[in-house]
Amino acid sequence: MCGIAGFIGERETVPLLLQGLKRLEYRGYDSSGIAIADDGALRVAKSVGKIAALEDKLAALGGFAGKTGVGIGHTRWATHGEPNERNAHPQLSPDGLVAVVHNGIIENHASLRAALEAKGHVFKSDTDTEVLAHLIAEERDAGFSLPDAVLHALRLVSGTYGIAVIDAREPSLLVAARKGSPLLLGLGTYGTFVASDVSAFVSGARKVIYLEDGDIATVRRDRLDIRTLDDVRVARTPAAVDPAAGAPEKGGYEHFMLKEIHEQPEAIANTIRGRLLPLDGTAKLAGLQLEARELASIENIVLTACGTSYYAGIAGAYAFEQFALIPSRVEQAAEFRYRNPIVRPDTALVAISQSGETADTLAATREAKRKGALVLSVCNVVGSTIAREAGRGVYLHAGPEIGVASTKAFLCQVTVLNMMALLLGRTRQLSNPEGTEMVKAIESLPELVRRTLEKEDEIRRIAERLAGAKDAFYIGRGYMYPAALEGALKLKEISYLHAEGYHAAELKHGPIALLAEDVPVVACAAKIPGHEKTLGNIQECRARKSPVIAIATEGDGDIEALADEVVYVPPCAENISPIPVVVAEQLLAYHVARLRGEPIDQPRNLAKSVTVE
Ligand code: F6R
Repeated sequence: MCGIAGFIGERETVPLLLQGLKRLEYRGYDSSGIAIADDGALRVAKSVGKIAALEDKLAALGGFAGKTGVGIGHTRWATHGEPNERNAHPQLSPDGLVAVVHNGIIENHASLRAALEAKGHVFKSDTDTEVLAHLIAEERDAGFSLPDAVLHALRLVSGTYGIAVIDAREPSLLVAARKGSPLLLGLGTYGTFVASDVSAFVSGARKVIYLEDGDIATVRRDRLDIRTLDDVRVARTPAAVDPAAGAPEKGGYEHFMLKEIHEQPEAIANTIRGRLLPLDGTAKLAGLQLEARELASIENIVLTACGTSYYAGIAGAYAFEQFALIPSRVEQAAEFRYRNPIVRPDTALVAISQSGETADTLAATREAKRKGALVLSVCNVVGSTIAREAGRGVYLHAGPEIGVASTKAFLCQVTVLNMMALLLGRTRQLSNPEGTEMVKAIESLPELVRRTLEKEDEIRRIAERLAGAKDAFYIGRGYMYPAALEGALKLKEISYLHAEGYHAAELKHGPIALLAEDVPVVACAAKIPGHEKTLGNIQECRARKSPVIAIATEGDGDIEALADEVVYVPPCAENISPIPVVVAEQLLAYHVARLRGEPIDQPRNLAKSVTVE
């Protein structure tokens, strides 16, 4: 989603802004822009499309090179107004002296805009952000300093924001503020960075300050002040920059997604490293900061998340019930936050998010906290808002996920949730030998994934059958149900082929009407309880002439006669069975999208981190 990169200090500004923006490209965007303060005026360049187009624009405009001082940059993912130069950020004040970049949504922008228009303001864009630039300008015109003008303007807005603001009249100053949208300050030796993501400045800063909601930072070349919206000074402790967040490399792969699919054995190995205790048949998850007695007092679990993380949550809920016998349910985060859900003091809410910044999951976390639940996070990005606000949880340690389509995060989330199920189970009825079995199953995951990846050539061939289709169904039951949902999501988001994930039994309650010879069905059919029922469902699909691609367990003698194509994955325990099946689905989606010539790492309309609701 939108990205912010700003800098104030003693280095040439524009190359640093461009470098920061390039590192944020993976988040998904449709236009970009920068502004620098130069000799009492602002120099602004914007363009639609990739950063390369912005670089061309800068070259054509001239006058940006060699400038040292202060500047802000932005990659925009359109919310209010279509992607064009007018709507790209930075947005300017009417006099062109104040520039604002903004992530998030100003919810009361329409009424603020109307009030400003009544006073004679003329707007040049369709964005909610321009309202903020005009409000700040009004305060500046009333004689307030830039930091105070920003403070006063922010008190008028409702909604979410991460913003960076500069004023041509105050070139030794940058103001940054956040509420509901991540914003960080990178403290370097030659200047200070402001960014929505640590990767934007990782090589230039050794320390990072994560701004809290309601913080307004005034950054000068030699000083940093942070205060709240109530104008109270606060101190925020800098943390070390995580070097793993460095500039992403494709490592010889054609796409980040393919690289990330192939690094999954290593990612899972990192997820489980040091966390399994084979002798005790349990897991050690220090980040939960919970004693056995506290774990044993959890009486029900709600898992909440969005998209792929939500599907991992379904598999997690099944494991919690199977091994820990704790009633567990998964709730889509946007539903949870608005539905006034029942949360009791013995409820544990598990918030699952790769980015740790997803707006709905964050809001669900806060709602659960307000209601007194024990909140545990399962995040990948270290120091992300959900992880920090939950205060306790388990990091995936999957390494940065750059491809917009989530891959290794899903596998590592399912792995972490299984380790949590094991730990919770061992505080209850799960015996040491049963726990040891589960430890062995989890330890086998890297190898299981490695062996599945060896099927890539076969999957590439099968992808050719799918690539020409317009619609497809993915079906599964039990632990294969979340695998079906995830497989369909992967296919639709990167290949733009319409795919529906359905419970295998649910298909005949309506969607079966759509089956025909040009509508393939991908059957998630690992040999787990309920398998024979899935075979029956496959028969139903064949009877409607749908070509069937099955993902089945090696040694399954029944499936070949029923399916047109079979991808065999290694056998494994039921609770981890979505893992090899999803790896096969990731490769299938990847190769379909590649055959169709789609931009796999940055699919249209999608953002890596969905920070608006
Ligand atoms: C799909 C995908 C999304 C995310 C969802 C939640 O490939 O990436 O569905 O899973 O936006 O994101 P996180 O996990 O960052 O909260």
